[in-house]
Amino acid sequence: MSDNLATLFSSEQLAERVTVLGAEISEAYANQKLVLVCVLKGSFVFTADLARVIDERVNLRIEFLGVQSYGEGTESTGVVQITQDLTKSIEDEHVLIVEDIVDTGLTISHLLELFKTRKPASVKVCSLLHKPARTRIDVPIDYLGFTIEDHFVVGYGLDWAQRYRNLPFIGVVDNE
Ligand code: PRP
Repeated sequence: MSDNLATLFSSEQLAERVTVLGAEISEAYANQKLVLVCVLKGSFVFTADLARVIDERVNLRIEFLGVQSYGEGTESTGVVQITQDLTKSIEDEHVLIVEDIVDTGLTISHLLELFKTRKPASVKVCSLLHKPARTRIDVPIDYLGFTIEDHFVVGYGLDWAQRYRNLPFIGVVDNE
């Protein structure tokens, strides 16, 4: 059983854009410490590629945050449960939250509120994708890969019922 997948961004297009983001982040945080926070599960592929194009001028450490939305629906409720927390304090540290997609904005908004209580030096957001058609709360995206239409996208870490995270490209499921 397989779905029709149309390529939205090829692996080459993704690599090109991620390299540009990495250069911008390297410039912005040169000679500083930075905590890159990979929000699981969707951003594991993006984070791995992004980390490798942030150059050695940045004193980088990587943390993983396990996050699960409450409820089984496809619509985010914004009430997120932390299933795996950071391993070290972020107090006085510069933090960059890495997301695969900002959809309604509820997840990142919740995470920004949560992180603020931990007194970091700064918190910024890097998202590969943004789907403005579904915005319910405006959130700042400091580093953005691509803005997309209201498509259901999979691949490069993004899933459909846990499937397709392994695709090296971003595809749109089109079963018409
Ligand atoms: C996705 C994505 C973001 C969130 C964005 O996670 O990784 O965390 O949804 O949606 P929002 O802007 O509407 O809140 P998902 O809940 O699919 O979990 P996953 O990363 O484990 O696939």
